[in-house]
Amino acid sequence: MIDEIRAARDAALAQIERADSIESVSALDTSLLGKKGSLAQLKTQLGGLPTIDEKKAAGQAVNEALQTVTAAIEARRAELGEAALLAKVQAEALDLTEFVGKPTRGHAHLVTQAWERLEDVFIGLGFQVAEGPEVETDWHNFEALNMGAGHPARGEFDTLFVDHAPPGEQPGRTVLRTHTSPVQIRTMLEQEPPIYIVAPGRVFRRDTPDATHMPVFHQIEGLVIDRDITMADLAGTIEAFTKAFFGAEFTSRLRPSYFPFTEPSAEFDIQRPDGSWLELGGCGMVHPNVLVAGGLDPEVWSGFAFGFGIDRMATMRHQVDDIRDMFVNDIRFIEQF
Ligand code: FA5
Repeated sequence: MIDEIRAARDAALAQIERADSIESVSALDTSLLGKKGSLAQLKTQLGGLPTIDEKKAAGQAVNEALQTVTAAIEARRAELGEAALLAKVQAEALDLTEFVGKPTRGHAHLVTQAWERLEDVFIGLGFQVAEGPEVETDWHNFEALNMGAGHPARGEFDTLFVDHAPPGEQPGRTVLRTHTSPVQIRTMLEQEPPIYIVAPGRVFRRDTPDATHMPVFHQIEGLVIDRDITMADLAGTIEAFTKAFFGAEFTSRLRPSYFPFTEPSAEFDIQRPDGSWLELGGCGMVHPNVLVAGGLDPEVWSGFAFGFGIDRMATMRHQVDDIRDMFVNDIRFIEQF
């Protein structure tokens, strides 16, 4: 009987060893350890053994065999589980080197490239770079720029308001700056003239995105404050900038316009080598009220300011038809530059 038990155990262990999937181990679990399994069958025959000692020894041998088979099933199950997991991980693993091939060099965003080149050109013309916060007070963004509450020009800036009030301020009077012009005020309040600064930065308007508009875009502001500054200085600076940035074959012109913070005001256009004109931004002589808000005496100081969109300049420079293309990060677009 003991020999039969050992033979049944060894046969079971051999079957377990041969099982090559979790499912087949589960099937063996039922067939080998269930009531109809060979060991269970042998157990039912224990009663037929002649002596107590033989019954005892055989009973013990069956129990040990059952334990051994149970442990072998568990061990095989764990082994196959690990192998299955490993196979799955290997199948799903991505070998990135396979796709990338050789390492490629990235480049700065088109807007960043334009921004940096603008800074370089203006530094070359003797300007310094200034900055201001993107979250602004209503005072810096509008009032100090000669746009008091209710001024119709405010309607042209579709303003995004911030639900926050600094100490002593009413909620609803903090905005995401709609232009870089508030940096004019901050600079006048912070530094003594003469002032020759440019301030590039991010601005925000509730504009619906289309081929020429984004709700988040970038402008560069220019401000010059000195003694005896005239409109001729403004026109000369714009022309020098146009040639330095776009090339000697480009030229510029000023067209009368209106901004509350400059008087007189102008739009400035550039002429491309093919003769076509393109509007770039606004400019003008700093309004006396703005000088006063900046703590300066308009009888002593005069100046000019300009501001234009960096994103639109970048689209122009690279012949991009739709401004939105620069912000969707489609690799097929990016790789062209
Ligand atoms: C202004 O923002 C004035 N602060 C400019 C200025 C500064 C005038 C100093 C006088 C003195 P305007 O709203 O026109 O002006 O905007 C200036 C430029 O920003 C536009 O010419 C255009 O190039 C760009 N721009 C305006 N709205 C958008 C937009 N939604 N998306 C992309 N570019 C825009």
